[in-house]
Amino acid sequence: MAHIKTMIDTDTVEARIREMAAQISQDYEGKNLHMICVLKGGIFFMTQLSRHITVPVSMDFMAVSSYGSDTKSSGVVKIVKDLDESIEGKDVLVVEDIVDSGRTLRYLMDLLRDRGPASVRLATLLDKPSRRVVDIHVEYTGFEIEDVFVLGYGLDVDQKYRNLPYIGTMVED
Ligand code: IMP
Ligand code: MG
Repeated sequence: MAHIKTMIDTDTVEARIREMAAQISQDYEGKNLHMICVLKGGIFFMTQLSRHITVPVSMDFMAVSSYGSDTKSSGVVKIVKDLDESIEGKDVLVVEDIVDSGRTLRYLMDLLRDRGPASVRLATLLDKPSRRVVDIHVEYTGFEIEDVFVLGYGLDVDQKYRNLPYIGTMVED
């Protein structure tokens, strides 16, 4: 049997998210922030982050599939659900659970920039910099972690464990 080992506990995750929200609120002072959640993994981070942001916030959601057999090598990502509203002229913050190779975000950020927003930045709860294969600029990072597969706080293993209120790893007994 395998069990889940806590890597980053709830208090630590949420304290860090509050710090990120304070930084973002400061950076967007006097502006409206349009947060775009990358489904499904980004949803828990986005709701928690948005609660602590003090500038006016609007939200939209997008779903992409990144891990197909040929999409992986080409870097092309399929849009499964597109945004409901135009982002033209808006200050957009893309909210992701984790940046791994960077392929998904590279594609998504380029696509969003082509739609004429005032600005586009990226916030990720987790980053695995050692796994990066494409160059991508991340403005707001919660935690940099080593190359291990993590779950919880939005991250899944075969669609399970997203609801865990902490970040963990699967350990074989
Ligand atoms: P990238 O295009 O390689 O950066 O893919 C990032 C996506 O891979 C994330 O949005 C996750 O869905 C998934 N992913 C990468 N690492 C992990 C992990 O450790 N746990 C769960 N999902 C992961
Ligand atoms: Mg994801």
